Amino acid sequence: MTDTIVNAIKWTDNTLLLLDQRVLPEQEVFLSFKTASKVAEAIQTMVVRGAPAIGITAAYGIALAALDQHGSPVASLKPAFAVLAASRPTAVNLFWALQRMQERLDSKAIVDANALLAEALLIHSEDLAANMAMGEAGAGLIQETGGGCVLTHCNTGSLATGGFGTALGVIRTAFKQGLIDLVYADETRPWLQGSRLTAWELAKDHIPVMLIADSAAAYVLKTKPVRWVIVGADRITANGDVANKIGTYSLAVLARYHGVKFMVVAPFSTIDFALQSGQQINVEERSADELKFIQGRRLAPDAVNAFNPVFDVTPGGLIDAIVTERGVVVNPDIQSMSALKTNGKYQSAPA
Ligand code: MRU
Repeated sequence: MTDTIVNAIKWTDNTLLLLDQRVLPEQEVFLSFKTASKVAEAIQTMVVRGAPAIGITAAYGIALAALDQHGSPVASLKPAFAVLAASRPTAVNLFWALQRMQERLDSKAIVDANALLAEALLIHSEDLAANMAMGEAGAGLIQETGGGCVLTHCNTGSLATGGFGTALGVIRTAFKQGLIDLVYADETRPWLQGSRLTAWELAKDHIPVMLIADSAAAYVLKTKPVRWVIVGADRITANGDVANKIGTYSLAVLARYHGVKFMVVAPFSTIDFALQSGQQINVEERSADELKFIQGRRLAPDAVNAFNPVFDVTPGGLIDAIVTERGVVVNPDIQSMSALKTNGKYQSAPA
C-alpha cells in the first residue's frame, strides 16, 4: 500500500521540488525552487499546504538560503527567516521548524549550509516517522471502539505531511488492519482539499471513499454507521483546544450531539504550549475571492462582501482523543496535555 504514497516534497540536486497542490487532481506537476522567497510564496499561494508540510518546506527554504550564503555571517539568513515566517500565520509547525533551523545556526559564526540541510532532512524524516507511529496509535483507538465508517475533513495525508499523513495516516493504518469499511470525505469548501486531495489520495490507495458536501455531515452522522470523526490540526494549545480547517468545530459539535467519537491526530510539533487557550490563536483570513470564484469562474456578485476565515478552533472539551507520536491524550485538558509534555508516552484514560 505504501507504494502509492505520494512524495510531494523532494530535495534533489540542491533544489526543492514541490508537487503543485493547486492543480490536483487534474495535473501532477512538480515545481522547482531555489530561493527562500519563492518558497515563501509557494506556501502563501498554497502550492504546498497542511501544517507539517508547511514546516518541512520552510526548513528546506532556509537550506536553500544557506546554500546561497554558505560561509557568510549568520545574520545574512535573517531575511530568509523573516519572509518564511510571514508566509502563513496559523500552523505552528512553520514557526517550530524555523526555530529548529535557527537553533542549528545559533552556535555558529558563519553559515554552514551542510548543517542546515541536514537539519531540514531530519525534520522531514522525523515527521514521516511520527506519522507512522500516530497511525498505529490512532488505529488502536479505533480497534477499542470497533471499526466501521469514519468521516474526515480537509486533507491530512501524504500531501500535507512528510509523507504518510496524520488523520489520513490513522485511516490508512486502520484500513490495513481491516477496521474501516468506508471513509466519508468532506469536500472542504472553499479550497476543496477534501475532494481534490483527500479523495485523490484515498482512491490511489484503493480505500473506499464517499465524497460529501460539507453541509451533508449532520445527515451522514445521523443516518450512517460513522464511529469516528478523524481530523488533523494546525495548532493545539496547552489546554487541548485545536485550530484546524474551517468546519472542524462544526463537526466536533455534530459528533458530540450524535454520540460519534472525535479524534485529532497531530505530531507533537503542532502543540503550542506557549498559548494557554485557543482564544489566543491567530486565525488566518484569506481573500474573499476564494469564496467568490472557483477556478476563475465567478460564483457571487462583485459587490458582495465575503468573510473567509480558513481555520476555526475546537474546544478541547469536544475532543475524545488527541493522538501524537509521543502518546494519546484522552479527554484533553490542561492537566492531561501537561502530562503529555512532561512524560511523553502518556495515555490519560482508556478511550
Ligand atoms: O489551509 P490548509 O490546507 O493548509 O489547512 C490544512 C489543515 O487544516 C489540515 O487539516 C492540518 O494542517 C493538518 S494536516 C496534517
